[in-house]
Amino acid sequence: MQTPPRKVYLDNSATTRVDPEVVQIILPYFTELYGNASSTHQWGQRAKQAMEEARHQVAQFINATATEIVFTSGGTEADNLAIKGIAEAHAGKGKHIITSQFEHPAVLNSCKHLESLGWNVTYLPVYREGIVRPADIETAITDETVLISVMHVNNELGTIQPIKQIGDLVKARRAAGHKHLHLHTDAVQSVGKIPVDVRDLGVDLLSLSGHKIHAPKGVGALFVRRGVRLQAQSHGGHHERDRRAGTESVPLVVALGKACELERLHLQEFITRVGNLRDGLEAEIITRIPNVSRNGDTECRVPHISNFNFDHCEGEGLMIALDLKGIAVSTGSACASGSIEPSHVLTAIGLDHENGRGTLRFSLGKETTQEELDYLIETLPVVVEKLRRISPKAGVRH
Ligand SMILES: Cc1ncc(COP(=O)(O)O)c(C=O)c1O
Repeated sequence: MQTPPRKVYLDNSATTRVDPEVVQIILPYFTELYGNASSTHQWGQRAKQAMEEARHQVAQFINATATEIVFTSGGTEADNLAIKGIAEAHAGKGKHIITSQFEHPAVLNSCKHLESLGWNVTYLPVYREGIVRPADIETAITDETVLISVMHVNNELGTIQPIKQIGDLVKARRAAGHKHLHLHTDAVQSVGKIPVDVRDLGVDLLSLSGHKIHAPKGVGALFVRRGVRLQAQSHGGHHERDRRAGTESVPLVVALGKACELERLHLQEFITRVGNLRDGLEAEIITRIPNVSRNGDTECRVPHISNFNFDHCEGEGLMIALDLKGIAVSTGSACASGSIEPSHVLTAIGLDHENGRGTLRFSLGKETTQEELDYLIETLPVVVEKLRRISPKAGVRH
């Protein structure tokens, strides 16, 4: 019998392994090139140079210009800065924001915070397929709307949102005089997985995060289109063109730049190779395990995420059983007040307590191999069968 791989990491949407090339390149910035990028001596200038090169690498990856990139501590801060920064800068024009029901908490809770300050927020439905409809946005826009924030790719389902169509809509409204309307997208789950081009999408602001693309945790960026007025959310020195105060972490910023460069060079290969692996995995699961279904649209999605519902199982139980076998996946449900409840994303696509609790997300990465998936495919049916046998709801369907 073949020896199974020891560890199979299929939770790349949660976070990724830092690329060894990235680790290598940043080490000198801790011990030798440790200057403060705001200092004028040579230590400072070397640090600044490295940071500006990283800014260029990030910009190039998303077809922005370097001056449009603001470094942040990650996706959460980028989302907060975008939403609150636009809200505060344009409150005089209106106090309405449009977003979707299945955004990341970084967006949802920023919106909730603004609601507590008197803002009006529309949370759009995403339907069974997990995709926002531009027609709903058109209906929701009022003269008071200053911001539309819709994620590019949903983190649990992997579904791609029609940002370009929304961008076209925003451009048309602006041309008709609605100058204070802005479009933000949280692209934390799309950057490095599908092509992301800020001009083509027509966005004013775009958030990204380093640790989803093989850079360390604690670094990200916000693209702010030239000419967009944004109120800084942290106050201090004149860093990041007065848009984000605080001494920049040069090693982390350099890591983000390098990670963007590597992802840019290997994007097409990732899409093809990982897409094939994912499709093969899904076909095997569907063939080998009865009573399974996929969540979210299966066409309009990123190549590396697969979200399955296993009837008569609990996602938490499945996740733990797989973990014991050395396989890391994540669940779309969590224990809330003693019962297993589906996440807000699954609830938004219409899954309820009964139908949404047996959900697993498999998120493949650039390092995922067929051998690892073979091990999962051998292990998963056994684990599912075992959990169904002890489930009181299993009945005779399997
Ligand atoms: C869609 C989305 N937005 C924002 C974030 C937050 O990014 P960070 O972990 O860098 O704060 C995540 C992380 O899971 C995410 O998936």
